[in-house]
Amino acid sequence: VHHHLEESIRPYIDLIDTLRSVGIQKDLALPTIVVIGDQSSGKSSVLEALSGIALPRGSGIVTRCPLELRLRNVTGGVSWKAEKMIEFGDPSLVEKHVEEAQNELAGKGVKICDDLITLEVRSADVCDLTLIDLPGIARVPVQGQPQDIGNQIKRLIMKFIEKPETINMVVVPCNTDIATTEALKMAQEVDPEGVRTFAILTKPDLIDRGTEKNILAIVQNKVIPLRKGYVMVKCRGQQQIDEKVSLVEATQIERDFFQNHNFFRPLLDENKATIKCLAIKLTQDLVSHIKKSLPKLDEQIKKQLWEVRNELKKCEDGPPQDLKGAKQFLIKILTKFNDKIKSLSLGELIIKENL
Ligand code: GDP
Ligand code: NA
Ligand code: MG
Repeated sequence: VHHHLEESIRPYIDLIDTLRSVGIQKDLALPTIVVIGDQSSGKSSVLEALSGIALPRGSGIVTRCPLELRLRNVTGGVSWKAEKMIEFGDPSLVEKHVEEAQNELAGKGVKICDDLITLEVRSADVCDLTLIDLPGIARVPVQGQPQDIGNQIKRLIMKFIEKPETINMVVVPCNTDIATTEALKMAQEVDPEGVRTFAILTKPDLIDRGTEKNILAIVQNKVIPLRKGYVMVKCRGQQQIDEKVSLVEATQIERDFFQNHNFFRPLLDENKATIKCLAIKLTQDLVSHIKKSLPKLDEQIKKQLWEVRNELKKCEDGPPQDLKGAKQFLIKILTKFNDKIKSLSLGELIIKENL
């Protein structure tokens, strides 16, 4: 899958990941794919299928912090790395580490929080891609959750999807009323033209007989037009997970499902079905999106650098004469500029090195 993608995609994705990790997204908007959907719509299943690793899943709120999932296609060794630099080689530990990180950031229990957890997967079997998984939209609070949990989650989602630099990947189950899905409505609200919204239709094996034609029309972009369109995927159902069907086997099962489907078979030739097809689309999309955002990003970094230099100039008058005043002045100035200058010079450095 990965080899006919351009060689040059990695530097672009690395550039954005590095800028994000030095905290620059607080000042500048970075191009990102964000995964949103109602609870149990299949978000984790899609991410699992894309990354090849088992992510925390279950009923209720599982994703409580935004999870940045970095997929790196490397030949040779395979390792899994979670931020705060915990590095581990056993994929079955991912759940444990993510849970621990969430407990640390959001507290134990059912609360959510805005802080980002990073999980990096290095493997020969993944595509080059970075995605951010967000908590699923919950309608009813569970025990211990504040009454406004639904609104809290929506606010968190909004913070990500309202940025013009974000590609919204909306996960919607086929066996629901697709047009009225909350996540799709939120995406349409911030992106009425549908220029940066992508929909993934899940659970095609669970639809009611007789609804196939309507759903086919939706995937073919004839009902709720999105410029980036739709992809239909079939992931493992609960029973298949219980039966320990592997992700590799699931890929074959997915292919067979579409090949043998009377209504959905044409989607294979139209590049509108399977996880494999989704992975290729997403990578190409993210990279072209990053390329488009670079001039603006460069401009923003230069503007901030100019502002910092200007403020520094203002300080040239020097500190107050008395010792206490001078000390306070220096501490204030130093702390103020330290972070900013560090991240700005880092940003410049990376852009030069990679491009
Ligand atoms: P999330 O809450 O959005 O992350 O949803 P999950 O990925 O945890 O999926 C919720 C449930 O739907 C799980 O039991 C999955 O096994 C099941 N599921 C996800 N995708 C499919 C699919 O394509 N077909 C079937 N039959 N079940 C699916
Ligand atoms: Na879930
Ligand atoms: Mg989930």
